Amino acid sequence: MIRVRVPATSANMGSGFDSLGIALTLYNYVSIEKISGPTEIKIMGEGEDFLPGDESNLIYKCVRKVFEKCGKEPGGIRLVMENNIPVTRGLGSSSASIVGGFFAANALLGEPFSKEELLSMAVEIEGHGDNATPAIFGGFCVNVPTKNKINYISSPIKDNLKFATFIPDFFLQTKKSRAALPEKVLHKDAVFNVGRSALLTASIISGKYENIRVAMGDKLHQDYRKRFIPGMSEIFDLCYNNKALGVYLSGAGPTIIGIIDGNDNSFSMKVEAVLNKKMKNWQLTVLSADNEGAVVLGGF
Ligand code: HSE
Repeated sequence: MIRVRVPATSANMGSGFDSLGIALTLYNYVSIEKISGPTEIKIMGEGEDFLPGDESNLIYKCVRKVFEKCGKEPGGIRLVMENNIPVTRGLGSSSASIVGGFFAANALLGEPFSKEELLSMAVEIEGHGDNATPAIFGGFCVNVPTKNKINYISSPIKDNLKFATFIPDFFLQTKKSRAALPEKVLHKDAVFNVGRSALLTASIISGKYENIRVAMGDKLHQDYRKRFIPGMSEIFDLCYNNKALGVYLSGAGPTIIGIIDGNDNSFSMKVEAVLNKKMKNWQLTVLSADNEGAVVLGGF
């Protein structure tokens, strides 16, 4: 049996729409083995009540794709998913499924594909690589897809940054959240984001974290999505009032992430007191960056 671990990911990071993302220390696990009978799919944890347990399952479809690209039929397989990443919340659960399926099948077949090839295949499905790149390579990632290639950089993040992850009890489909975005934007809004996403990348890689707040400013997506996320402004204010270095909508939402100083031990206590009093439908989990990305934990 092969077991793969894939991290949650958080895309956009404010200004870097479809381009920036980070891997976080929250994981899904995919186990796979060949069996002689018909395919068996078992889902445990997040999504176990509603994710399909038949051959329309996204992970299964990705396993199949890898086999077919090698000119093979998967035959009967047993797939077990242990899900800790909340589904449809802006934490890259779809990417984790795609990458988990690809890595598991690739390992079972003796690794015919490189990580870069698996990334291209994942971007082909998702249409953008801001979750898939960190899910595969870990750390803070920049990605720009061109015709036959995903151009990317993955840079490890020190533990002096933590990611205060605010997850609400409601879902937001990426499709619905993307449909709220305008087809055209003003030149000045594009310029606003270009400078900031460059500043954010340089700030995170150089460790000049004092720039993060400005660098997370965005005019391309967050405001358009706010109407789907009751409590978004309050969470932003709550984070900034408690010394967050920056706050942004994670991916297409509805999760919100406050970046905090890794040595700040009072943030969680103060913020949780407010959530318990006024915003009980938001749950706070403080995560670190995952710098490994997807890993095959071994065949056994
Ligand atoms: N960049 C994507 C978006 C992430 O904001 O729609 C969600 O997949």
